[in-house]
Amino acid sequence: MKKQIVMGVLLVMATGQLVAGETVKSEAIKERDARMEWWREARFGMFVHWGLYSIPAGEWGDRQWKKGGVEWIQQRAGVKADVYEAELIPKFAPRADFAEEWAELARITGCRYLVFTSKHHEGFALHDSKLTTFDAKDACGRDLFKEIVDATRAEGLKVGAYHSIIDWHHPQAYTGKEFGIPFIRGVSNEGRDNSVYVDYLHGQVEEIMSNYGPIDIVWWDYSKEQCQGESWRAKELIELVRKHQPAIVMNNRLYRSPEAGWPKEHDWSKGFSIDPQYGDFCTPEQKIPPNGVEGVDWETCMTMNTSWGYNQFDTKWKSTETLIRNLIDVVSKGGNYLLNVGPEADGSIPQASIERMEKIGQWMDVNGGSIYGTEASVFGKPDWGRYTTKPGKFYAHVFDWPKNGMLTVATANTPVTRAYLLADATQRDLKIKKGPDGWLVQLPKKAPDNIASVIVVEHE
Ligand code: GLC
Repeated sequence: MKKQIVMGVLLVMATGQLVAGETVKSEAIKERDARMEWWREARFGMFVHWGLYSIPAGEWGDRQWKKGGVEWIQQRAGVKADVYEAELIPKFAPRADFAEEWAELARITGCRYLVFTSKHHEGFALHDSKLTTFDAKDACGRDLFKEIVDATRAEGLKVGAYHSIIDWHHPQAYTGKEFGIPFIRGVSNEGRDNSVYVDYLHGQVEEIMSNYGPIDIVWWDYSKEQCQGESWRAKELIELVRKHQPAIVMNNRLYRSPEAGWPKEHDWSKGFSIDPQYGDFCTPEQKIPPNGVEGVDWETCMTMNTSWGYNQFDTKWKSTETLIRNLIDVVSKGGNYLLNVGPEADGSIPQASIERMEKIGQWMDVNGGSIYGTEASVFGKPDWGRYTTKPGKFYAHVFDWPKNGMLTVATANTPVTRAYLLADATQRDLKIKKGPDGWLVQLPKKAPDNIASVIVVEHE
């Protein structure tokens, strides 16, 4: 099924248009699958939103924003770029070892990759950019992009850059309603030449893609109907990226497909198509598609409270139970889960996030085998939890432990051979027998894990 769709997708890539019945070079399919392999296998990543906006952390002057993305504070408070810069640059003082803390936490949590904001909409670049003084090197004498990439690699993780296409700082960048981009009050496009900004965007992307060794992901953000794809000279930009990083994986936010709305609003049950010229995976934002997204690679990105950037007022933390079950839910539908943290001004990760990540990590230490390298459920969504699958076995993630000790799994026609608890190091067999609606697995009285216990079921 997946193969067929990928073939179709590649046909689009090769010809620019899908022609029914035409065949594609199998090499191209193999190449794409090879490039996506680690990403599909990883299933779980850590997202980090951190920049100058982490300093005000939801408060500007006498105004406070208690919820929602306060990485948008410049726009929400209506602050012109020069004022924003003058106010925040002097206060920007990251602690020495913040990058190691992020990377270590990502590894402990069980994340296989880390995607961080190399530049958010505010325009501040974490890398040492020759094209601007609005970068970390000029602000604090450090190349923070390098620090983060090196620390992440040192933990054995893949690393990605979220790079904002929108830029509220560059004096030539278009903003404004007519361009579809939320704008800073009082700023107009008059006298601006957006092509100068697009050159700058390409230039900075080239810097980050060529100066730091392998970069595994580029996570573009974002396009609207009025400004997308070729407004950013997207094909050329992607070519530039691939020239330096042939193995890179990227999201599709340089482009906004006409039938699909903004990832936050899109109705994912209607499906989604990706133009492979413009990226590899789509990005349901703050949402888990009810039945996954057929035929395409997808990644749900989600905050732990309600903001991407650090918000000192936001205490609406999701519980560890919700986060673990979200991860399982996403993976059971064939997607990846990119879970966000918003470090404080000096780069320290908020305690509430650390606590949750550590608990997720403990669960992953025992149950990671039911997540990494697994695929979508072939048995739908059972009442008691979720399934993930691997060749020859499937994993029953039990959220609600049955009171009578009997769990019904799969279908009566599934040739089940064996079942055991993933948490049981000795892999003692659980009793199984065929029932009318599936196989009955005799469970121990007590669930090994209150959030999700995993039963491994082997079949022929
Ligand atoms: C949106 C927001 C942004 C956040 C991103 C994460 O594009 O503008 O603040 O970085 O989503 O998906």
